[in-house]
Amino acid sequence: MANTVLIGSQWGDEGKGKIIDVIAPHHQWVVRYQGGNNAGHTVEIGDQRYVLHLLPSGILRDGCQCVIGNGVVIDPAALEKEIDEVEASGIITIGRLFVSDRAHMIMPYHCLIDSSREGRAADKEKIGTTKRGIGPTYADKASRVGLRIGDMLEPDFADLVAARVRENNQVLAALDAPQVDEQECVARYVALAARLKPYIADTIKLLNDADAREEAILFEGAQGVMLDLDYGTYPFVTSSSASAGGACTGSGVPPHRIAKVIGVIKAYTTRVGEGPFPTELHDESGESLRKAGNEFGATTGRPRRCGWFDAVVGRYAAMVNGIDYWALTKMDVLDQQAKIPICVAYECDGERIETVPASVRAYARCRPVYEEMPGWQSDTTEIERLEDLPDAAKRYMARLEELTGVPVGIVSVGPKRHSTFVIDSVCKFRT
Ligand code: IMP
Repeated sequence: MANTVLIGSQWGDEGKGKIIDVIAPHHQWVVRYQGGNNAGHTVEIGDQRYVLHLLPSGILRDGCQCVIGNGVVIDPAALEKEIDEVEASGIITIGRLFVSDRAHMIMPYHCLIDSSREGRAADKEKIGTTKRGIGPTYADKASRVGLRIGDMLEPDFADLVAARVRENNQVLAALDAPQVDEQECVARYVALAARLKPYIADTIKLLNDADAREEAILFEGAQGVMLDLDYGTYPFVTSSSASAGGACTGSGVPPHRIAKVIGVIKAYTTRVGEGPFPTELHDESGESLRKAGNEFGATTGRPRRCGWFDAVVGRYAAMVNGIDYWALTKMDVLDQQAKIPICVAYECDGERIETVPASVRAYARCRPVYEEMPGWQSDTTEIERLEDLPDAAKRYMARLEELTGVPVGIVSVGPKRHSTFVIDSVCKFRT
């Protein structure tokens, strides 16, 4: 069994797409299991740059079968657009991409409710969502009033859509938000149903059959553990299970079939949207990380908030997800720093704390306790082997391993495929 879960270990944007692209060849299947088109995974292959929001990154690798699992929420129009885009660059999707019939569907009213709530919230209550309708769609799922992708195959699909639009127009009216045109919406979704029909499948059976044949499955997490609905900085989180546990509930593959968990973690920290972020830098250092790391959202283009590495978050992510090893990304972004602080604990209300408190108010009062490492002040972007990293970079990595209790198995020093290299003694495969 070689089934792997790969998750974001901070607030998302850790560079998961790039790592998945490198390890996908060791797996026959790549599965998205939560979130929706709020995610943005950037992968560079040669001169071509792909930004994927819904499609598993494995779609860019020949021979990889891809699944959008039941735990994902799908905007069918966004999915159609993304399929068109990858097909335009010569990638075949039919027969390689399977969309769960149990996945819930994002409807236009979900996006309007999301935008309207964000627009009306007082500044300190804004979540800073991507306005893709993610929260309202998961809320409908939990309230048992959602529409699922499998409903597209039903003869009365048009009636189902019409009924949901009528009911939600009342919600929109109460929010003073624009109405959804019922006829237009029905026609659009009926057309999308015809377009997406060849992809709709019982992906639970498909994946369990693949597992029984010993074909390796890679579960591709979106966002990160600090945005997880349960473990993140609630309510400043997304609405899905972005941690490793979500891979099972979001795909129908049982927990005992997961062999390992890889945590993708950036050599520093970023966050988009609102909510506390203890190591956030409001000065020039933050600006220099943003510039060096090109820290702008792949989905919304928003500038990301930047800060130093937070080992408390790393330890917490390791605990909640059982991380076997880190994929440490964007080491090169620290190339020019003379000194690199690492947050080793927090101070909150006069006490030293070593983990993430449940209360977002308490978390906002946490101040980082730093130790400082010397920087390496040299260009690492052309390095392809661990041995060739400067000594100070190796010491920085070793300290992160020590503080988080998890070894580094993959390191990346740039966006290109050859800039990600594996440490054979930790990983059991070669790139
Ligand atoms: P939502 O997922 O659009 O509801 O947004 C909720 C929070 O999660 C906001 O702070 C977003 O900025 C954040 N978020 C959602 N998706 C991503 C992602 O892929 N990367 C980083 N942050 C994200």
